[in-house]
Amino acid sequence: MADRSVPSMRNYGRQLFICNHGDCAPAEEGERLQRLVLERNRQQGLNKLRNPHRIKCTLADCLGVCQGGPIVVVYPDGTWYHGVDEAAMDRIYREHLVEGRPVAKLIFHRHFPVGEAPVYAPEVRGDEARVRVPWGPLEEVEALQPEREEEAREEEAQLRRLAVRRSRKKKGLVIVNTGEGKGKTTAALGILTRAWGRRMKVGVVQFLKHESARFGEIRAAERMGEIDWISSGDGWTWTSSDMEETEARARHTWAVCQERIVSGGYDVLILDEFTYLLHYGWLDGNEVLAWLEANKPPMMHLVITGRYAPRNLIDFADLVTEMRAVKHPFAEQGIRAQPGVEY
Ligand code: FES
Repeated sequence: MADRSVPSMRNYGRQLFICNHGDCAPAEEGERLQRLVLERNRQQGLNKLRNPHRIKCTLADCLGVCQGGPIVVVYPDGTWYHGVDEAAMDRIYREHLVEGRPVAKLIFHRHFPVGEAPVYAPEVRGDEARVRVPWGPLEEVEALQPEREEEAREEEAQLRRLAVRRSRKKKGLVIVNTGEGKGKTTAALGILTRAWGRRMKVGVVQFLKHESARFGEIRAAERMGEIDWISSGDGWTWTSSDMEETEARARHTWAVCQERIVSGGYDVLILDEFTYLLHYGWLDGNEVLAWLEANKPPMMHLVITGRYAPRNLIDFADLVTEMRAVKHPFAEQGIRAQPGVEY
């Protein structure tokens, strides 16, 4: 017969929720903060299940703010922190969680007005601490008696939950922008800008643009800084006469690109006009895709642009967008490409 006795709650004093959804800040930053809190918990003995002051730390997906992250919320206080880096997390841990003094400078929202925060949980429950409550400066941690097995079980469970979240939600995407219309490279550069804004490592390989080209996007990348930009084409157009030179340069650039991909040094890499290499048979599409399958770092986003994306590339990609021309200033009015708009 099922056990109908009333289950008892496991004690904890405060709970932290840390956003790792990825829009307010890179998901890894939230995950790094969680690891820091777990480490502090271990040092302080605040991971022990029977300690009523135990601090739970949970990755919480989106907390509904989606900017200025990483976002961290402390319950039951209802205190919302933003822009929390590791130094700030350490401070919040020390001053707020251990000493009970919220870090006013980092708070952007309080659920309760100052002085009206809910009473600290252990007092509400009247629970008896069954182990010594190890409040105290972080430096005294070595003096604490570790309860190894329990800690290891708790940590293992946390890591398992983290792995499940990761496998469920995160993937380096293969993105293809193709079609006859304008905007394939522009859309790719939009992704690049977003990623750059998140301090991710980004790069661009332009397969056919002339190596000495000075388009607006290249100038922008120089001014932004920290963007690897390779243009190694010979300024190929549909009317080029020396196709052998174009093909040789494109193949060489693919070899350079392969090195960059396996280096694992990028979060986002754009292969601009790469589809032409496949379309014109300069590279074997199946070989390229098999190589990518085997060598692309799992979390790296690869953005491929160009007309005539072959079927096997479309099948391989996670996200494919086809640009379609509805109206064009040259076709309708004879207006040529405008600086700042098209180059
Ligand atoms: S993505 Fe972090 S709060 Fe929404």
